[in-house]
Amino acid sequence: MERTFWDKGYPFLTPGAGFLKYPGKEAIEIWKAGADGLVIGSFTEVRRGGYPPPNLYFLENGLLNAFGLPSPAPEDFFLRLEELLKNIPSYAIIASFAMVTGDLNKARKILQQISDYGVRLELNISCPNVKCPLARAEDIIKLALKYFNPEDISIKLPHFTDLDALQKMVGELVSFGINIVIGNSIPGTWIDGKGNFVLSQPIGGYSGAAILPITLANLLVAKRVIRERNANSLLIASGGVSSPEDMLRCVCCGAHAIQVCSELIRGSYYSNRLLREIAKTIFRDWKIRFFLHLYELKPRNKEIASNLEEFKERVREIDGKIYISM
Ligand SMILES: Cc1cc2nc3c(=O)[nH]c(=O)nc-3n(C[C@H](O)[C@H](O)[C@H](O)COP(=O)(O)O)c2cc1C
Repeated sequence: MERTFWDKGYPFLTPGAGFLKYPGKEAIEIWKAGADGLVIGSFTEVRRGGYPPPNLYFLENGLLNAFGLPSPAPEDFFLRLEELLKNIPSYAIIASFAMVTGDLNKARKILQQISDYGVRLELNISCPNVKCPLARAEDIIKLALKYFNPEDISIKLPHFTDLDALQKMVGELVSFGINIVIGNSIPGTWIDGKGNFVLSQPIGGYSGAAILPITLANLLVAKRVIRERNANSLLIASGGVSSPEDMLRCVCCGAHAIQVCSELIRGSYYSNRLLREIAKTIFRDWKIRFFLHLYELKPRNKEIASNLEEFKERVREIDGKIYISM
């Protein structure tokens, strides 16, 4: 499919992968509420049922989940994508794909199909609920580069506690010219008052506010590598953003774009508000507060000041949506 309006740039504020796993009318609600783009999926090369309940447990500052990466069959996912494209422009859609079988031939077919729809690609190699080893990252990136321009590919890394390893990994990834999402949920578990695991699986993924400091440290290190190499890669923050101030913290640490997942889930589970209202709070009100505060910040630290300056230079508003020039 021909790429149109691509020069607009990368969508600034989107839901994180997993929220629009089976994208339908709620995806359109979120778009109308003010999201600049939509990450849909993750979907996998084969249909997956996922784990039995309980799959979700709310802790004070975070969220544990073990869904096991359920996924529609690729043909079902593509039917939903076709429907979505009747209402939402292709450049605003980011299809998240997770290879789970290790079968590169199957993956090749899927990647080609995604690119035929003219949407962007996010490669999820970091789901804590399935094994998708980082060692395969290079294979899948090389395959994706046959069908996508590097600037249309993002790779979603896990959070690293070994920052030297992160530095090395980011160095390798930016040499491909692709974008980097940091990070995913982090392996975690919880035991209830009777001594039982709270989820059906002993270990799940931990996300939400509690993981933001780890996201920020990872962003800072990744951004240093991007700057040192003079690379074009964009840096996308995913992990713990639960306020407009958190969005600012991410941009201070080098992020160009932001994803929000747990806060959307918390809003949908905890309140009786309609998704439309929750989405308006996050994708409209937060964004307004973010931009009001952005121009009030006066950082003493040079690194933060330079990250903010770069962000301000790249940001554009077009037709009520915010894009980051690439
Ligand atoms: C219930 C749930 C399902 C998720 N599913 C996916 C997924 O399919 N693919 C993916 O890349 N990330 C998935 N994630 C990770 C989120 O996109 C996000 O990276 C992570 O939760 C950290 O961000 P947050 O603190 O804003 O939630 C999922 C997270 C949750 C809580």
